[in-house]
Amino acid sequence: MNDIGQNPASLLSALRDEARLAPESGIVEVMNYGRDRPGIIPLWAGEGDLPTPDFICDAATRSLAAGETFYTWQRGIPDLRQALADYRTRLHGGPFPPERFFITGSGMQAIQTAKRMVAGAGDEVIVPTPCWPNSAAATEIGGARAVHVPMSFTDNGWQLDLNRLTDACGPNTRAIFINSPGNPTGWVMEEDEMAALLEFTRSRGIWIIADEVYERFYYDGPRAPSFHDVAEPDDRVLYVNTFSKNWAMTGWRIGWIEAPAELGQVIENLIQYSTSGVAAFMQRAAIAGLSRGEDFVAYQVERARRGRDIVCDTLGATGRVRFARPAGAFYLFFSIDGEPDVEKLGLRLVDEANVGLAPGTAFGPGGDGFMRLCFARSADSITEAANRLADWLRRGAKGS
Ligand SMILES: Cc1ncc(COP(=O)(O)O)c(C=O)c1O
Repeated sequence: MNDIGQNPASLLSALRDEARLAPESGIVEVMNYGRDRPGIIPLWAGEGDLPTPDFICDAATRSLAAGETFYTWQRGIPDLRQALADYRTRLHGGPFPPERFFITGSGMQAIQTAKRMVAGAGDEVIVPTPCWPNSAAATEIGGARAVHVPMSFTDNGWQLDLNRLTDACGPNTRAIFINSPGNPTGWVMEEDEMAALLEFTRSRGIWIIADEVYERFYYDGPRAPSFHDVAEPDDRVLYVNTFSKNWAMTGWRIGWIEAPAELGQVIENLIQYSTSGVAAFMQRAAIAGLSRGEDFVAYQVERARRGRDIVCDTLGATGRVRFARPAGAFYLFFSIDGEPDVEKLGLRLVDEANVGLAPGTAFGPGGDGFMRLCFARSADSITEAANRLADWLRRGAKGS
């Protein structure tokens, strides 16, 4: 009998390279290792501990009860696109027409669609790292190459050297991916840096893919600086965003792209040939979040600020960790003296401290030696986790 179709190695080798070589998530290994541990405090994933508020769930239920179960608009239902335009106008001043907004089946799908729009085989996308790994992986699955530009960890926090970034751009560079506020570092790009980068990309015809999903989780003002503050509507900027974080909807899988309206048909086509659109009941829920969710967003941001302060103060007091106090997003990215092997450390912390963290190696070059901790949780839970880690650090648990 020949082994075609039976030998797993030959099955794998028969796949497209980009699919076969897609990396496994470095976060999932530790999650799988620790998820069933009794009493574990799971701070490894990028989500908080609050369920989606009732007023959002109720909007979905009402939509289903009303029979909204059919195929719907590929670009998103008009009411949701209008609600997004209104939301963006409230945050940035206007006008933002609804024609700029396109509903996707998650922030992840927004990223993937944006990448597909601008970069294919032979092209390059610049990705500053440490960065949430899915962006580079989405680039490479699409056939383009992700070019990592490591940021530096300095006494003044994480810094992105713009010269280094622009030097990395070559003739094949089609896009620069900027995630600010950043996961995992909490780094926030300043408005003047955005303006300078935009000028550079204009001069070179390069796209900016602006991942601003943590724009509301900003601790030095009402919202983080945004490319909206410096860009014109027809600039080559694609914004990717999600309902996951602001409205505690990680499990729903709904996000959006904001782009120049003239790209609408292309975006519609790409949505058509991937998910063919997002279920109407989910879109009704998203409208409820946008139109009635401001108090909830403010509550979550304050909760995250408190979580940040607790972990920074508690871990900082041990004298064994190094970190930059994050200005945005909801992660602490920290290194522990004498603990360079963070992949093993993630597993050990499950066993020895009953706390789940993600290893920095999962976030690309520059993440080695760091651990990521998500602090979007109740003060009680974060205090308990921080105390467990501090006790572990004080025990000087190296190699134990
Ligand atoms: C920086 C960043 N962008 C995009 C996303 C995508 O979010 P989702 O696919 O849950 O909508 C995440 C999720 O963790 C993220 O951290």
